[in-house]
Amino acid sequence: MNILVTGGAGFIGSNFVRHMLAAHSDYRIINLDKLTYAGNLENLTEIEKDPRYAFEHGDICDRSRVQMCVVRYEIDAIVHFAAESHVDRSIMGAAEFVRTNAVGTQVLLDVAREMKIRRFVQVSTDEVYGSLGTEGAFTETTPLHPNSPYSASKASADMLALAYHHTFGFPVVITRCSNNYGPYQFPEKLIPLMIANALADKPLPVYGDGMNVRDWLHVSDHCRAIDRVLHDGTIGEVYNIGGNNEKPNLEIIRLILRHLNKPESLITFVKDRPGHDRRYAIDATHIRKTLGWTPSYTFERGIAETIDWYVEHAEWWKRIVSGEYMKYYRALYENR
Ligand code: NAD
Ligand code: DAU
Repeated sequence: MNILVTGGAGFIGSNFVRHMLAAHSDYRIINLDKLTYAGNLENLTEIEKDPRYAFEHGDICDRSRVQMCVVRYEIDAIVHFAAESHVDRSIMGAAEFVRTNAVGTQVLLDVAREMKIRRFVQVSTDEVYGSLGTEGAFTETTPLHPNSPYSASKASADMLALAYHHTFGFPVVITRCSNNYGPYQFPEKLIPLMIANALADKPLPVYGDGMNVRDWLHVSDHCRAIDRVLHDGTIGEVYNIGGNNEKPNLEIIRLILRHLNKPESLITFVKDRPGHDRRYAIDATHIRKTLGWTPSYTFERGIAETIDWYVEHAEWWKRIVSGEYMKYYRALYENR
C-alpha cells in the first residue's frame, strides 16, 4: 500500500511514519509537510534513507502539489495529520488555523475524491467536543462544542470530511484522540515545556489554578490506534482514542519535578489561558470493542521514559528553544 502522510515531520506524524515503516514491511510512506515552525526533519533522521520512505516539501493548501504527490506515488490512502496544533497560538491569531486546518483539509478531500483514494483518515482531536464538568466522558455522539479557534478549525475539518462521506460516499474515517505525550513533541506543549524549563531551572508557568484535567495517551499508542482505524475502521465512522488516564496539570508538573530532582519552588502560577477548557476525558469503548485496540503503555512507564528521552536528547530541543521560538515564548509568557 502507498500512503500519503500529511504533517509527517511534526510530533505525532513523525512517530506515525516510524511506526508504519516498522509495522508494515511492504508499505511505502510519502510525507508531505510544509515544515512550519513545528515541522522538523530531524525527527525522522533514523528512517530518512529507507527506500520505502520519501519526503515532499509542500503545503496541503496547494492543490497542484497535493495532486502531483498522489499521482507520482500512486497513493492508495491518506492519513491527514498536517495542522496548526497549538491552542495558545490560535488565541494569538486564528488565520493560519483556518487556512491549514479547514481550507487545507477541503483541498485534500477534493483531490482525494477526484483521484479515487481508497481511504482517508482525518486525524482529529477530543477538543472538538468542548469542555467537561467533573463527571462523564466524551463519546462519539457527544455534540461538537469547540471552544478555541484551534478546536473550531478542527471541528470544521471534521464536518467537511463527514459531509463528503454523506454527499459523495467518500471513504473517510475520523479519529479523535486525547492529549498525546512522548518523544519529539514540540516544546511549546505542557509536558516538554515543563521538562525543558525544569532542566534549565527556569520557572514553570502553570495556567490558572493548575487543576485543569487532560486525559494523557502515549503517542505510540495513538499511532497503533490510527493504524487499526486505517485498515479496519468502518467508513463514515468516528473513533475516539484515549487511555483512561486523567490527570490535573499540577500532578504532572510535580511528577516531572520529582523525576528530575528539582524543587517545587520552580512552579509559578500565571494568568489563565482565555477560554481554558476545564476537563477532557475520552470514552474509547467503540475502538476497544470493534477494533480490539488497547493502549500498551501505563502512564507511569510512559512519562518516565519520556522525561528520560528529553534529558538524553537535549541537543534536539535546545536547537528549537533558541531563536524564533524565544520570540513566541516572550510574547506569551513575559508579564503574564
Ligand atoms: P505538530 O504541530 O507537532 O505538527 C504539525 C505538522 O504539520 C508539522 O510538521 C507542520 O510542519 C505540518 N504542517 C502545518 N501546516 C501545514 C500545511 N499547511 N501543509 C503541510 N504541512 C503542514 O502537531 P501534532 O501535535 O503532531 O498533531 C498532529 C495532528 O494530530 C493534528 O492534526 C492535531 O490536531 C492532532 N492531534 C494532536 C494531539 C496532541 O496531543 N498533540 C491530540 C489529538 C489530535
Ligand atoms: O486534547 C488534544 C489536544 O491536546 C490536541 O488537539 C492539541 O493539538 C494539543 O496541543 C493538546 O491541547 P492542550 O491545550 O490540552 O495542550 P497543552 O499542552 O497546550 O496544554 C495542556 C494543559 O496544560 C492545558 O490545561 C493548559 C496547561 N498549560 C499549558 C502550557 C503550554 C499550562 O498550564 N502552562 C503552559 O505553559
